[in-house]
Amino acid sequence: MSDLPDDFTCTITNWEYIYGLCRDVADEVRSAEFDPDVIVALARGGWFAGRCCCDFLGLDDLTSLKMEHYVGTAAKASDPEVRYPMPEGSVEGKDVLIVDDIADTGESLHHAHEYVVERDPSAVRTATLQLLDTSEFDPDFVGERLEEWAWIVYPWNFIEDMIDLIQGVMERADDKRFERADIRRYLATYHDIQRIEMEIAQPDRLDEVLAEMERRGVVESADGAWQLA
Ligand code: ADE
Repeated sequence: MSDLPDDFTCTITNWEYIYGLCRDVADEVRSAEFDPDVIVALARGGWFAGRCCCDFLGLDDLTSLKMEHYVGTAAKASDPEVRYPMPEGSVEGKDVLIVDDIADTGESLHHAHEYVVERDPSAVRTATLQLLDTSEFDPDFVGERLEEWAWIVYPWNFIEDMIDLIQGVMERADDKRFERADIRRYLATYHDIQRIEMEIAQPDRLDEVLAEMERRGVVESADGAWQLA
């Protein structure tokens, strides 16, 4: 999220919705008569989807791969590399399904696909819960195609993302102290997160996020208002 511009639209999701997308991906895999032996879930966003797809498809072989986006001199920011290799022999001779949460540039799935192909599987397919039309990689199985680019706040990193977003708006706004209503207003203005949308997807969680921001030393609170620490 750190490379994004100041203003960008966010969509808050919940477990039920995302679980439905996992089911949709699994349905597509079944309809294509692809019967994977193992799922490779891309860390960390693909873990929930990978585990649910194992359940829907009746697999107990689940492994993980972490693609890291280095921002350094040697590699371009968009060139992900493998951080944690898979255990020896985890895909050789097997039908493999690689699963991730979202294809945005598509780089992670693209590189994971190359990495798995180099390890002599018998077949490899790729799946994503959500596909943005910015993706240059075309996964085989897609839960949902999104026409408009948005930052998707997934339930498994709701707190992490909301802390980043709230910290970002506090840094940007001219105010020093923020009441709950100010925070909600800035989230709506800069990220199109409307109060109603947030309360439907993740009810009553703003105070939890603010308390966690305080515990982590990001903000301080006094008299029902928060300011950056
Ligand atoms: N990771 C990469 N792109 C993303 C997006 N648009 N939303 C959520 N997570 C992402």
